[in-house]
Amino acid sequence: MTDFTELMQRAREAAAKAYAPYSKFQVGCALVTQAGGVFTGCNVENASYGLTICAERNAIFHAVATEGPQMRLASLAVIALGHEFPPCGACRQVIAEFAAPDAPVCFLQNGLLVTQTLAELLPSTFQL
Ligand code: THU
Repeated sequence: MTDFTELMQRAREAAAKAYAPYSKFQVGCALVTQAGGVFTGCNVENASYGLTICAERNAIFHAVATEGPQMRLASLAVIALGHEFPPCGACRQVIAEFAAPDAPVCFLQNGLLVTQTLAELLPSTFQL
């Protein structure tokens, strides 16, 4: 799936399933793997706030759990219901663990679908 509009729609559907009783900020992510798999995730919050998992990491971990440790990201889209934002810094670092620098990451900005490469979003990736 290379159609980012369709990927965004999958992300929107995932956002509707978010467990976000504390922030009310419902986030959904949809990604495509190099193997052609499509995975989604939503944010899942917790009364102990730090235990919350973001939608992007939820989707990425779901992809690894299904495809295994060789899973590589081809593209990723993220959206919040009623809000616009690019992925948080923690999720950018996790995306970098599984994606090439030129991997496209889609999100909404001023009502428009924006696509940036991972390298644009996270120019100085931490690597061991
Ligand atoms: N959140 C995400 O799911 N992804 C991000 O990139 C940023 C933040 C979630 C975490 C929390 O449940 C809510 O949005 C408010 O921070």
